[in-house]
Amino acid sequence: MENYRLTEPRYEAMNYRRCGRSGLLLPEISLGFWHNFGAGVDPDKCRAIVEAAFDAGITYFDLANNYGPPYGSAETTFGRIYAQSLRAHRDEILVATKAGHDMWPGPYGEWGSRKNLIASLDRSLERMQLDYVDIFYSHRPDPYTPLEETMQALVDIVRSGRALYVGISKYPPEMAERAYAYLREAHVPCLVYQGRYNMLERGHEEEILPQAAAEGVGYVAFSPLAQGLLTDRYLNGIPDDSRMRHSQFLKESVLTPELLAQLRAWNEAAREEGLTLAQYALRWILRRPEVTSVIVGASSVEQLKNNLKAVSAR
Ligand SMILES: NC(=O)c1ccc[n+]([C@@H]2O[C@H](COP(=O)([O-])OP(=O)(O)OC[C@H]3O[C@@H](n4cnc5c(N)ncnc54)[C@H](OP(=O)(O)O)[C@@H]3O)[C@@H](O)[C@H]2O)c1
Repeated sequence: MENYRLTEPRYEAMNYRRCGRSGLLLPEISLGFWHNFGAGVDPDKCRAIVEAAFDAGITYFDLANNYGPPYGSAETTFGRIYAQSLRAHRDEILVATKAGHDMWPGPYGEWGSRKNLIASLDRSLERMQLDYVDIFYSHRPDPYTPLEETMQALVDIVRSGRALYVGISKYPPEMAERAYAYLREAHVPCLVYQGRYNMLERGHEEEILPQAAAEGVGYVAFSPLAQGLLTDRYLNGIPDDSRMRHSQFLKESVLTPELLAQLRAWNEAAREEGLTLAQYALRWILRRPEVTSVIVGASSVEQLKNNLKAVSAR
């Protein structure tokens, strides 16, 4: 197996931001594995994207138990790339995974029980060939399980050495408040809130962002490009190789004439600043001091490199 030779110097091209009131710095741009790393994707392409990311100073890789398809396969892909390219650099990278969405059949395969979180993380570690993850998230709020059970599972996961830090994702403000308080009292403070925030979805500006900042919790924005809408991808039709053609998560019906007109106007504004629409959209998020990092998806090295210029263009 060919060893990966890293390009130096790597860290100069990236800016790093402190994650809340913690000791951890995150790169302004991180790489997500929700799409583009499943079982059907060319392994060499996956590896090239991850290596290009690390070479550019991206140190945070964001996964979840059920990323694929099929579920688990993005973690398996990451594990293979880790073994080939990154194992010698384990202390230079942050790997995150999550549990909470549906993963395996039966009553323990989803939500926020202690059973689900601990069993899921153990399987994730196996797939990723890791001894521990850097960040473990409760992937979504659970209306049925007592919040205390979910939070205590996170605390015990950290105490057991399976994770260094914990985070929450998509929690409404009142549940986030209780989660932050519980974790702080247990001396495992919540490191980070992960939420959907982009030029088309600004709901978190009102409560979630100020709350995280006040609590000393970092904030990472997922789907910062609205799954590709905030790029040049759909400005002139729907490409055959696009997420909109292939994924149930981005429906063609969202691309209304009104949205297209808005995207074209933003594209023009971006061009006037010498930016692509994707760079413009990422910089728009990073203007907020509460935001620690944006987690981008990329289906090619070219897309990733384009997005990385949102940082270096400053
Ligand atoms: N916590 C949660 O519940 C949650 C939910 C969703 C996502 N996430 C995390 O956030 C990560 C990012 O989410 P996302 O994939 O939706 O992010 P995104 O960055 O909004 O969208 C990524 C997609 O946009 C297109 N794209 C990216 N850069 C481009 C460029 N420069 N030019 C043209 N098109 C470009 C690609 O689409 P094509 O594939 O069409 O090329 C790519 O797959 C996920 O991988 C995951 O780690 C978390």
